Amino acid sequence: MSTIKKHLVTCALPYANGPLHIGHIAGCFLPSDIYVRHLRNAGKEVLFVCGTDEHGVPITLKAKKQGVTPQDVVDVNYKIISESLDKWGIDFDNFSRTTKPIHHETARDFFKTLYDKGVFIEEVTEQFYDEESNQFLADRYLTGECPNCGKDGAYGDQCESCGRTLSPSELINPKSALTGNVPIRKATTNWFLPLDTLQTDFLNDWVASKKDVWKAHVYGQCMSWLNDGLKPRAMTRDLDWGVPVPIDGVEGKVMYVWFDAPIGYISATKEIREDWKDWWQNEETELTHFLGKDNIVFHTIIFPAMLKAHGDFNLPTYVPANEFLNLEGQKLSTSRNHAVWLHEYLEDFPGKEDELRYVLTSIMPESKDSDFSWADYQARVNNELVAILGNWVNRVMVLTHKYFEGVVPSNENQADYDMLATANQSVENIYNLVQQFKFRDALSELMSIARLGNKYLQDTAPWHAIKEENGEQRVREILNVSLQLLALFSKTCSAFLPHTSVKLKEMLNLKESGLMAGQQVNKASLLFDKIEDEDILKQKEKLENQAKDNAVAPAIEPIKPTITFDDFSKLDFRVGTIIEAQKVPKADKLLQLLVDIGLEKRTILSGIAEHFQPEDLIGKQAVVVTNLAPRKMRGVESNGMLLMAENTEGKLVFVEPVGGIEPGSIVR
Ligand code: 2FM
Ligand code: ZN
Repeated sequence: MSTIKKHLVTCALPYANGPLHIGHIAGCFLPSDIYVRHLRNAGKEVLFVCGTDEHGVPITLKAKKQGVTPQDVVDVNYKIISESLDKWGIDFDNFSRTTKPIHHETARDFFKTLYDKGVFIEEVTEQFYDEESNQFLADRYLTGECPNCGKDGAYGDQCESCGRTLSPSELINPKSALTGNVPIRKATTNWFLPLDTLQTDFLNDWVASKKDVWKAHVYGQCMSWLNDGLKPRAMTRDLDWGVPVPIDGVEGKVMYVWFDAPIGYISATKEIREDWKDWWQNEETELTHFLGKDNIVFHTIIFPAMLKAHGDFNLPTYVPANEFLNLEGQKLSTSRNHAVWLHEYLEDFPGKEDELRYVLTSIMPESKDSDFSWADYQARVNNELVAILGNWVNRVMVLTHKYFEGVVPSNENQADYDMLATANQSVENIYNLVQQFKFRDALSELMSIARLGNKYLQDTAPWHAIKEENGEQRVREILNVSLQLLALFSKTCSAFLPHTSVKLKEMLNLKESGLMAGQQVNKASLLFDKIEDEDILKQKEKLENQAKDNAVAPAIEPIKPTITFDDFSKLDFRVGTIIEAQKVPKADKLLQLLVDIGLEKRTILSGIAEHFQPEDLIGKQAVVVTNLAPRKMRGVESNGMLLMAENTEGKLVFVEPVGGIEPGSIVR
């Protein structure tokens, strides 16, 4: 039997390395806020915490790029982020920061407990090191090709393209993000969380118990990591920005940002609640983490493993991660500035907070990626909010003033109360859908109440009825039912459209006790304006200009450091002919090729699936590096590499021998 008394809801802490865009907000801020408002409406005791993630390499990289300190970067961005969320109406109990002393103290205590319990494995390992910048290359300081999907630009800890968590040694062709140099390896001591033993001890069973509780894509991702077998993972880094490692005699090391960041949820609770343990260490509290899909592994495997190893904490019940939102058909990108920024939206569309909430909820990437476009934004606002909801509200209010001077008419016979029963059924459906994190369906059920209200007015046509004999009595009934529907709507919409809910309740003069016959309502005010073509055009132009401003002349990659003739002569280049080509299941970028290199036929995996169709490749010739050590990707061993020319925009073309030549011919 569930004995849940309290609900602790978290929203993933955004990195304070830039403002928030619509991808962040559709991914976790909006769904968590709807969920929290919904629980509060249902009378539940809820605590909703978040804050900025102010450590980690994304911050120090940004600081370096701007020539300022990491603290400067996080101070500026904390302000922009927290003000925009506040203005947009995200109902946090606390929006904290991981650079606050309370967080450092909480993270240190947590680490110390694990350390004292002997949970960590202390190990000297060789880590990548950039000799030019005299620095170990932790996490995002290291980039290279992803061993899983083949995409370049994966980081030392994660590939953002396929979501795979990585360790630095897995990256293919690793490079320093600071200098572009090929790093050396240097020995250093770090403390590892033994995810392998934690997997057999508890993660396997615990994740399995979530099969029917978590969304399919969340559970699926987890199982794929567990099936691959977890490995110990370093929880410390040789960096100077972060929470210092609290081990006597250890200096110059900080916690891995993904160790301290989720502890931020605990610190944010502690900061505002003396009874914080009741929220974290009490089985009567249910923990729910909202996040985007790139954060799944950290909230379903690593943080739960940390909490379990600590021993005193609850584990999350729900992890309703969303997939990604795209913008005008392309991936949102902070670095390319292909984004709609929340703080800019709020400036460009003052008073239209709920319009953005409405559109983003309608297209929320709950179970697959989805796309935001300005044309769709305009259509949804104009055809749904203005034409359906705004129009209904306006008609009910205007008619009430016209026929009854703004006094709620009575309906003693409870005529047409079946309308209210239908709407109440919708309210119940909405409750159940939100409980299942199905916000899109819940919103569409909400709008069905407005549709019902509109249709009811259309069908009963009070403007005709008033002219009939005993018409006034009938119109009283119709407007009584309409106003009650509206009152119900104004309460129900508050989780989704909080600003609209406040306006509606004011218009109706709605009291806690409900809407009473004889009570005066206020004048109608316009809830939503039409979005004009020119507003949309401006936004589209803005996006184009952002792209142009960012399109600095693509740099031709610098020439790599000189090598000796001996180094060069170790490479074996041959002409190969592709004889078979097929897609690799579940890998968007990879093609599996069978290449005739004269002496034999080789299986080669190549990250070119986005550039070529398999069938177009048969018979094509290319230069093949034939003596590269084999590498396994997606369970297939690749024996060699196809050389291609790549321009600054990433376009690939074959480098083929003119006129063709026998496969196996040496290239020198
Ligand atoms: O991916 C990110 O933006 C991370 N800053 C999320 C951290 S969530 C948490 F665990 F704090
Ligand atoms: Zn990848």
